[in-house]
Amino acid sequence: MGKKYIIAVDGPSGSGKSTVSQRLAEKLGYLYLDTGAMYRAAGLQALRQNLDLDCLESVKTVAPGLRIELKKVSGRLQVLLNGEDVSEEIRKPEMGMAASKISRHLPIREKMWELQRELGKEGGVVAEGRDVGTVVFPDADFKFFVTAGAEERARRRHRELRDKGFAVNYEEVLKEVKERDEQDSGRELAPLKPALDAVMVDTTDSSAEQIVEKLLRIVREKSRE
Ligand code: DC
Repeated sequence: MGKKYIIAVDGPSGSGKSTVSQRLAEKLGYLYLDTGAMYRAAGLQALRQNLDLDCLESVKTVAPGLRIELKKVSGRLQVLLNGEDVSEEIRKPEMGMAASKISRHLPIREKMWELQRELGKEGGVVAEGRDVGTVVFPDADFKFFVTAGAEERARRRHRELRDKGFAVNYEEVLKEVKERDEQDSGRELAPLKPALDAVMVDTTDSSAEQIVEKLLRIVREKSRE
């Protein structure tokens, strides 16, 4: 495959987009750009400074000094916040909501958009998030919107968090999934929604492997045209 494409994968939390995006990037030898991890790192920085995540005046002070790097180390994504490895810390259950809150503010989003576009400018990237196909890379070569029912997504997140050793219960996780959906879809700035030209991919009854194969087929078909 000669051309280095930009592939956007958006969708709500627990839809399976992370697993699918990572595997797709691996198969294509592309960079995996986890934009959610960047918002999580920004949220972590604000929490460490005891800032009110709902207050624009408060959180805008963190934007200028935010240095976030994504590295691949031994096949795993490492997230560095001002040089410190925060890959584990940003996966704590409360960090999803912190990221969702801080991501509503324009100075934070502008900073992230700049970093994300810089990372993707050469192409050869699978970028996942909420607004990749609509705002970050509106001219992406491929846009996928990955979804699954809320209950199934909560089951997946619950399993994932339990596997990491967090004592969470299913009802709590389901409530958070629904709250975050509402917050991410309902916000004014770059809300979670499919781009008009996105291919909708429902993962409720399919394995990650099946979905990856489906997306790969679509990408390879186009590259043969
Ligand atoms: O994908 P994730 O669960 O790691 O994302 C955490 C939060 O970050 C998500 O609830 C909303 C925000 N986010 C965003 O606003 N835009 C993105 N492109 C990615 C994530």
